[in-house]
Amino acid sequence: MPCSGGGTLACETAPGTQGVPPPSEAVTRVAVFSTRQYDREFLTAANREPGHELVFYEPRLTVETAPLAAGFPAVSAFVNDALDAPALTVLAEGGTRLIALRSAGFNNVDLGAAAALGLRVARVPAYSPHAVAEHTVTLILALNRKIHRAYQRVRDGNFSLDGLLGFDLSSRTVGIIGTGIIGATVAGILHGFGCDLLANDPFPNERVRALGARYVALPELFGAADIITLHCPLLPETTHLVDRNAIAQMKRGVMLVNTSRGGLVDSRAVIAGLKSGHIGALGLDVYEEETDLFSRDLSGQIIQDDVFSRLLTFPNVIVTAHQGYFTAEALHEIATTTLTNVTQYEAGRPLANEIRFDPGVDHVGGRRAA
Ligand code: NAI
Repeated sequence: MPCSGGGTLACETAPGTQGVPPPSEAVTRVAVFSTRQYDREFLTAANREPGHELVFYEPRLTVETAPLAAGFPAVSAFVNDALDAPALTVLAEGGTRLIALRSAGFNNVDLGAAAALGLRVARVPAYSPHAVAEHTVTLILALNRKIHRAYQRVRDGNFSLDGLLGFDLSSRTVGIIGTGIIGATVAGILHGFGCDLLANDPFPNERVRALGARYVALPELFGAADIITLHCPLLPETTHLVDRNAIAQMKRGVMLVNTSRGGLVDSRAVIAGLKSGHIGALGLDVYEEETDLFSRDLSGQIIQDDVFSRLLTFPNVIVTAHQGYFTAEALHEIATTTLTNVTQYEAGRPLANEIRFDPGVDHVGGRRAA
């Protein structure tokens, strides 16, 4: 089957799906956006049984690239695809009926517009909480023991320890904001390190309480925590949850880690906090303007984002490019659940992982998530 992309847009039909007769009644054509080689491998492997017709596109899904999905009943999108009203309108006009997100978060989808256009949206609610939780703890440990600096130093024949002083994690106070699936997994790991846990979440988690964590209001958490880690969704009320005012309430020298969504942190405020020394270390796997940066090799180009570039200059900052989810287990789970969502939709069965638009209330199982 010819790819509908053409031109400079990379497009590939899944090997093994071309010319293969549909094995069941529930087979559909899926335009899969924002795919890299690893996405294609895991999706193709997971597609052996459902046998959907997958057409892979490398570009992000935006209003400009949405016409590539014309004639596809299902579209699969990832975290930095822009599923805003204009893009959704193009998809709906092209015949798309299902958006199968390959992510848990859906802050990039205009759910109201999707509902109005008759588009149903499904996601992968939980793929591997361990992947993101372990990456979070990796950032905490690396920042504390300055592994990024030690690695470079030793390779350069410099075996001095000056500037590499860390602290015992045991008995330190960690504040966890958002104790859903990932935050609770982080709590479990840090409990194993002997940390004192403070938590903040409008829906306290009994599993986290059972670890000895105390649920407190944000000002108390900010004032007491040596390490603060963010695991709540990006919502209007959590946007820039960490701003100048929040940082001013934190302990001097606090370590801040964000593996959730970039918009939770006001990057300019954090830079001011790093410059003054109020923030002692910063670990980011997400960045509020990451869409134009992450998932791409820009090593030969000039980065135009001055705020991001400034963040990279600090010796006590580690940035990873949204790789928290990036384990083999998670990619397998993402691929399997995404294709199951497509199969359920096509077969007319209840869509177990559907995100329903419910203005003013919540979107998933009594809570909102992103
Ligand atoms: P979840 O829905 O299980 O948990 C989110 C928790 O945040 C819930 O307990 C909710 O009650 C809480 N929450 C909501 N509003 C809050 C507020 N204003 N203050 C404090 N807590 C609040 O979601 P899950 O699976 O644990 O994911 C957490 C976040 O991790 C996601 O929202 C997503 O943005 C991010 N994520 C990042 C990945 C990465 O690769 N870096 C991969 C997957 C998810």
